[in-house]
Amino acid sequence: MEQYAIKGGNPLVGEVEIGGAKNAALPILAASIMTDETVYIENMPDVQDTNVLLKAMRNIGVMLDRNSRHSVTINAGQINSFVVDDDHIRKIRAGYYLLGALLGKYKHAEVALPGGCDIGCRAIDQHLKGFRALGADVRIEYGLIKAHAEKLKGAHIYMDCVSVGATINVMMAAALAEGQTVIENAAKEPHVVDLANFLNSMGASIKGAGTDVIRIKGVSRLHGTEYAIIPDQIEAGTFMFAAAVTRGDITVKNVIPKHLESISAKLIEIGCEIKESDDCMRVVASKRLKPTHVKTLPYPGFPTDMQPQIAVALALSKGTSIVTDTIFENRFKYVDELIRMGASIKVEGTTAIIDGVENYTGATICAPDLRAGAALVIAGLSADGFTVVDDIHYIARGYEDFHLKLQSLGAQIELVNSDRDLQKFKLKIG
Ligand code: EPZ
Repeated sequence: MEQYAIKGGNPLVGEVEIGGAKNAALPILAASIMTDETVYIENMPDVQDTNVLLKAMRNIGVMLDRNSRHSVTINAGQINSFVVDDDHIRKIRAGYYLLGALLGKYKHAEVALPGGCDIGCRAIDQHLKGFRALGADVRIEYGLIKAHAEKLKGAHIYMDCVSVGATINVMMAAALAEGQTVIENAAKEPHVVDLANFLNSMGASIKGAGTDVIRIKGVSRLHGTEYAIIPDQIEAGTFMFAAAVTRGDITVKNVIPKHLESISAKLIEIGCEIKESDDCMRVVASKRLKPTHVKTLPYPGFPTDMQPQIAVALALSKGTSIVTDTIFENRFKYVDELIRMGASIKVEGTTAIIDGVENYTGATICAPDLRAGAALVIAGLSADGFTVVDDIHYIARGYEDFHLKLQSLGAQIELVNSDRDLQKFKLKIG
């Protein structure tokens, strides 16, 4: 089983290129089946979740040509099944984007109920409510969500909670419905906007993405396009916090600074220096961090996907911090692992009370999910001694070449496959 072996203590220094956004790539890949014409996608991250989705698309007859590691040509003119179900797709969240895409284009879809990181209950009622409002008959049977409509008709839909996934799914189906759809209380995340821009580049008529009211005028068909996915806000934020935690100096390149505002604001608050240019952000952390309070919120608030990373930083700050996750109710599973490394944290419900300690000490720990896994690796990089991180397959879901990028910043981290590899690493690093 693969593990990361880490020797902590080096400040991370240098530049790192940020890839395409996983959470934009997933709906964009799914939406590319909504035309019979060819779609060309660039800046696609090569991560487990996108690869699982591409495989599921190939299984229903979509032609895929991986032109390079980060670009793919897609043609869905010959789809031969509307049923999406395999062992892998059941484990990711984004399989359900094929529901909105297939329902929009073919008015029929059967897709396995989604999996994804175990961070809370992750209901899908707003997706189903949206599809039903558009006129679809939707049921859950035999582990599949089945949606069917004679025709889809635009509707006024008020989302009961702000949901990235439901906004995206309904937007896809509505793009090819008859008449106008209005989504109120829509999610405003950069990946929602990126999908709207992508669909518009295929001939859709979507206005207001990025605000909480999205208006979609249904069109009768979509055409082929060429599109480059936006940079990954969360990958960038993770490396920015790696600078803070290791007292390093990291420049993240190929980013959209506007998407990182809530993250850089918190870094400044806890004592880091930020230098921003057109598509780069430099984070310098030269002294012990200061404590703060954080509440995760939908965009433009502080992202839940950055909650473990900021907690790992605050657990080393001078004082007491409070971190509340308002989006997912079970996103503190990493805390027990961090306590093994010497952190002093108490979780009460969806709030963590963190008393900063001077440093972490290395331990053998498990990644409980994608973002927490990355955060624990960063903790290991600042810890005294050796850390071994198990279950790193979670990290591969959303970070491309994570350890290689960290190595390029001076981290002493290696992917190991056995005890022997681990011993070799320890002997080599000393
Ligand atoms: C997306 O998940 C992301 N996943 C998550 O990223 C991210 O944490 C989350 O948005 C919030 O930003 C993908 O894009 C593939 P939601 P999603 O629907 O769409 C409740 C990562 O690490 N809700 O915005 O599943 C739900 O329970 C992952 O990259 C309903 O009640 O999130 C949650 O409390 C993890 N009913 C809240 O809304 C619904 O029908 C937000 O969920 C839908 C959601």
